[in-house]
Amino acid sequence: MSTVEKTLRASAAGAEGRPATAVGLDGVEVGFRTRKKDVTALRDVSLDVAAGEFVAIAGPSGCGKSTLLKLVAGLLAPTSGEVRLHGEAVRGPRPDIGYVFQRAALLEWRSVRRNILLQAEMRRMPGEEARRRADELIEMTGLTGFEDAYPHELSGGMQQRVALCRALLHKPPVLLMDEPFGALDALTREQMNLELNRIWRETGTTVLLVTHSISEAVYLSNRVAVMSARPGTVTEIVDVDLPAERDYAETLGRQEFRDATSRIRELLGAASGED
Ligand SMILES: Nc1ncnc2c1ncn2[C@@H]1O[C@H](COP(=O)(O)OP(=O)(O)O)[C@@H](O)[C@H]1O
Ligand SMILES: [Mg+2]
Repeated sequence: MSTVEKTLRASAAGAEGRPATAVGLDGVEVGFRTRKKDVTALRDVSLDVAAGEFVAIAGPSGCGKSTLLKLVAGLLAPTSGEVRLHGEAVRGPRPDIGYVFQRAALLEWRSVRRNILLQAEMRRMPGEEARRRADELIEMTGLTGFEDAYPHELSGGMQQRVALCRALLHKPPVLLMDEPFGALDALTREQMNLELNRIWRETGTTVLLVTHSISEAVYLSNRVAVMSARPGTVTEIVDVDLPAERDYAETLGRQEFRDATSRIRELLGAASGED
């Protein structure tokens, strides 16, 4: 780590040693100008995510959830306001994030291992280190034995595990997930939720997860940011008062889980009436 980075991290951590802010959005507005009309996607969005925290984002379709993740990744610049990663303003595409989308987007002609290693090739990571890390992730996500399989030989859940391994290969301090389990059946989704909770605890990665599932948001998160319809803004941040390690069935039966889900449902109902 460079001296500049160290200084930035220290200042982000604050004098009392509070956890550093991994992701910060400050009065962010995003407008899109198309030939037909101008659209304000996000308006006055402010959100701080602490290092190691898991924050879910829920909101009606088209409220700017994907746009928000693109801002954090530096793939899009805000019209006004500021986006920071580890206390540093985001000025362009960031190499220190991992991104998982709804579709695994694997290369059909590459094996599981070589799909994961694509990340290393793009980042010119040393080969030996990348292979070791890939093996570690393959084991962590239960893909052992499928290293040489091709995407068409895998179930949807397994394909998303490969996408997750690829996103985690370079040990990104921040993982962005955009409806990663939306295309999976309910049972596979539950299983992926359980695994993601374990992987989050094992890696200590900060996670920002966009999801349409209220129970998924609550099961996985420390906090859920609920957004309004477009122009999207964070209307309320719902705290999830549950321990980090969560058994699935037991968690769903807890009062804290029910409190958080019903509050989010209330807020989303007010926002759209459909989602
Ligand atoms: N590149 C773009 N050009 C024009 N409009 C866009 C662009 N990206 C997103 N939008 C618009 O911004 C709004 C928010 O989009 P998005 O972030 O994809 O919403 P969500 O992920 O919450 O469904 C939508 O109205 C969408 O049509
Ligand atoms: Mg989206």
